[in-house]
Amino acid sequence: MNNFEYCNPTHLIFGKGRENDIGAILLGKLQAGDTVLVVYGGKSAEKSGLIDRVRRSLEAAGLSAVFKGGVTPNPQLDLVRDGIEAARECGARAVLAVGGGSVIDASKAIAIGVPYEGDVWDFFAAGVSPKEALPVACVLTLPAAGSEQSIRIVISGEGRKLGAGSPVVRPFASVINPEIFFTLPQKQIRAGVIDMMSHIMERYFTLTEGTDFVDGQAEAAMRTIMRNGLKLMKNHEDYDAWCQVSVAGSFAHNGYYALGQTEDWASHGMEHELSAWDTSITHGDGLAVVIPAWMRYVYDVKPSRFAQFAINVMGEEAGADDNETALKGIEALKRFYREVGAPATLSDLGADKADSRELAEKAVRIPGKLGGFKKLYAEDIAKIYDMMR
Ligand code: NZQ
Ligand code: ZN
Repeated sequence: MNNFEYCNPTHLIFGKGRENDIGAILLGKLQAGDTVLVVYGGKSAEKSGLIDRVRRSLEAAGLSAVFKGGVTPNPQLDLVRDGIEAARECGARAVLAVGGGSVIDASKAIAIGVPYEGDVWDFFAAGVSPKEALPVACVLTLPAAGSEQSIRIVISGEGRKLGAGSPVVRPFASVINPEIFFTLPQKQIRAGVIDMMSHIMERYFTLTEGTDFVDGQAEAAMRTIMRNGLKLMKNHEDYDAWCQVSVAGSFAHNGYYALGQTEDWASHGMEHELSAWDTSITHGDGLAVVIPAWMRYVYDVKPSRFAQFAINVMGEEAGADDNETALKGIEALKRFYREVGAPATLSDLGADKADSRELAEKAVRIPGKLGGFKKLYAEDIAKIYDMMR
């Protein structure tokens, strides 16, 4: 195990009705009379009455609010720039995200953009590290990206989808009320389940030795997500299943499952190029196509790790050797993806026309290579995209 430091100051407020406390929670950071920029997406949060409940809670706390809707999935740079302007105009002292990963990421980007003199895209395209941010709080409407506890932001602009990260963007408070997830469509439920599992896998597939403590918990979390995810596919209003999925999904991306170990993140790098190529591709669906291909390309670096995954997560029997067991695990994961109705190929995603080499070149343009488990260069990545066809 490697040396590590871990500090996660996100205050989680979990359970039925807790969005009604968001005003009081914000007041812990602000003063009565301060203005909050409330960021949300399309119509779902208005239709469900959530935006009204948030409005009433802010009013009751004596906070003034400016609402900025319209964040789309795979949130766009232009919207972020508008949001920064709106926040500056109204003198916002905090940003409240009411939504899923896209809304939270847009809110985080606005929060780092407001105090920054340059263009917010510098944080994504030029590698500038954010040093300060307005405080961000969330009311989560879709458990998937884990952005409500993560230090990451992903924004699309200029034909790219790029990430930035800093502890300054970790939300100081996040409300998770599983009843809010009852209105989610099937496609978003499956994409969320796939995404949150992938956040654990990106950390679980490591070359670091001596990680038993985290391994056991990561394996339990992945099993929990799959078991309860399948229940949700049949019943969108299974409160107990949502509790398990949303807690596991939130912890999946707060850094806990990587204590003292190297991480991978090649699959996310490859998926982001797909959802940049076509912004209608849902992140979790893209991952369902990328991950099995990545696994087949890299498992022989450390077959024992993939065999452990096969047995402890996918419930497979050990085969004649680790290689055979590893492959059984990959097939079992593909079966799970099929069971939740996920796409399996680039063609299922509508991305069969995307050029493997071009995608690969873009994926490595900034870092030069991807992956902590196996270093992947453009030629490797192009081969992996070919395996998705
Ligand atoms: O816009 P509305 O009408 O709200 O509809 C949304 C949207 O169309 C809908 N939705 C959300 N909550 C709902 C609901 N519909 C009904 N009932 C509800 N309660 O769901 C659709 C998708 O929302 P989105 O926020 O895009 O989904 P998700 O949470 O999966 O976020 C995906 C984004 O997060 C990024 C992804 O790349 C993608 O851009 N990620 C961010 C990460 C981070 N910041 O740490 C890590 C992840 O790996 C990921 O890359
Ligand atoms: Zn993800």
